[in-house]
Amino acid sequence: MHPLQCVLQVQRSLGWGPLASVSWLSLRMCRAHSSLSSTTCPSPERQEDGAPKDFSSRLAAGPTFQHFLKSASAPQEKLSSEVEDPPPYLTMDELLGRQRKVYLETYGCQMNVNDTEIAWSILQKSGYLRTSNLQEADVILLVTCSIREKAEQTIWNRLHQLKALKTRRPRSRVPLRIGILGCMAERLKEEILNREKMVDVLAGPDAYRDLPRLLAIAESGQQAANVLLSLDETYADVMPVQTSPSATSAFVSIMRGCDNMCSYCIVPFTRGRERSRPVASILEEVKKLSEQVLQLIHERDNICKQIHLPAQSGSSRVLEAMRRGYSREAYVELVHHIRESIPGVSLSSDFIAGFCGETEEDHVQTVSLLREVQYNMGFLFAYSMRQKTRAYHRLKDDVPEEVKLRRLEELITVFREEATKANQISVGCTQLVLVEGPSKRSATDLCGRNDGNLKVIFPDAEMEDVNNPGLRVRAQPGDYVLVKITSASSQTLRGHVLCRTTLKDSSENC
Ligand code: 5AD
Repeated sequence: MHPLQCVLQVQRSLGWGPLASVSWLSLRMCRAHSSLSSTTCPSPERQEDGAPKDFSSRLAAGPTFQHFLKSASAPQEKLSSEVEDPPPYLTMDELLGRQRKVYLETYGCQMNVNDTEIAWSILQKSGYLRTSNLQEADVILLVTCSIREKAEQTIWNRLHQLKALKTRRPRSRVPLRIGILGCMAERLKEEILNREKMVDVLAGPDAYRDLPRLLAIAESGQQAANVLLSLDETYADVMPVQTSPSATSAFVSIMRGCDNMCSYCIVPFTRGRERSRPVASILEEVKKLSEQVLQLIHERDNICKQIHLPAQSGSSRVLEAMRRGYSREAYVELVHHIRESIPGVSLSSDFIAGFCGETEEDHVQTVSLLREVQYNMGFLFAYSMRQKTRAYHRLKDDVPEEVKLRRLEELITVFREEATKANQISVGCTQLVLVEGPSKRSATDLCGRNDGNLKVIFPDAEMEDVNNPGLRVRAQPGDYVLVKITSASSQTLRGHVLCRTTLKDSSENC
């Protein structure tokens, strides 16, 4: 438990139906307060002779302003959701999920989606299992919303349904536990426990680390709550677990709470003070998500294997002047990593020739990067100064126009040589092509894209459909066709169509 967290446990007999004795955790925590509460109450001190000290000597002996500042801003010790030192009334074993199945239901905003993932991450580490089947759940947790009255009403209604589920539960099974998490827990606190005797656990938005302990208390048949708000809890070290493997998006939360105090809004009261998550932990999470994206591109046939990595320059010096935030070496390392993660990936890039201060040596570096990476597609431009930009205000557009254009030509030539080499590997191969429509250049040709997002041109001819042998068809936009590649340039591949197929059939045949 966090040393600054001052949790006062009081056994109170509140006469709540069958749960006469409720272990009610009256939770009062505020980082600034905690240092005060751990300091003994400033009673009027006395001198050794028993006479009260005068004010200035008492002041001098007391804590300084710095003392409070230090306590208030001390970095929070990393709290582990695996509780290392259980409170004396709970054994380590009781704190573990023991394979109990948790059903999580999310209401409201994107923050709640993220909170659900955080809560689940904490419970998973504690030995709980997740279920998406309400009937097999041992613990049901609602991640709630208080933003408008209707949001709360929805949850009250849901609680009535869950109450029935709990009552009907056969005695042969472990009793069902119900928890209210998030904003409604924070706003209504004990009102929920008073109104809904079936609720076992209440956890406010800053109390999810405490869930294993709260659930352990609930196991013994007592209600348990933690609705402390924190000044600095960001769950920075808790990596959210993606709730659904088929999810199409993921949220990276960068801050919690709100200080705006809009006159109509409950959020500052339910989510507490605004605080930002440390940048390093945001970066770590984004990196993890990027890795997952690479992994997905690698394993899914319906995602084309192409990544656009705009380099802009091959010179670290110019990259710094451009304020790109990476060096040539870091860029090349990323290229290697991507190529290892997605074998055969097609890479494209943007380059600017003749940026402010670019020397001939810098330009040579860009040429060498084009050779080193061997892009499949490229977009190359001569630098043109834009008003309002930093370069406009701070740098000199000092590369003469003709030099810019000459360098651009050189870059284009090298890019084309390398792309032609890279694309020629496809000649002789049969590739799966997604048909887009007629070719812009020729009415008798069709145009499509291969798995590397490269344009493939082929004559619009009749062909067989693999799923309807004997049927002759013409390719339509959206169809998948197999094309035998016969030639390649730096921009396009050409070939002739073999048959119409499907993504599924073609991946099975590969
Ligand atoms: N001059 C030339 N090229 C530019 N780009 C962006 N700004 C400029 C500019 N002022 C190019 C970059 C970017 C692409 C969209 O356009 O290469 O990646």
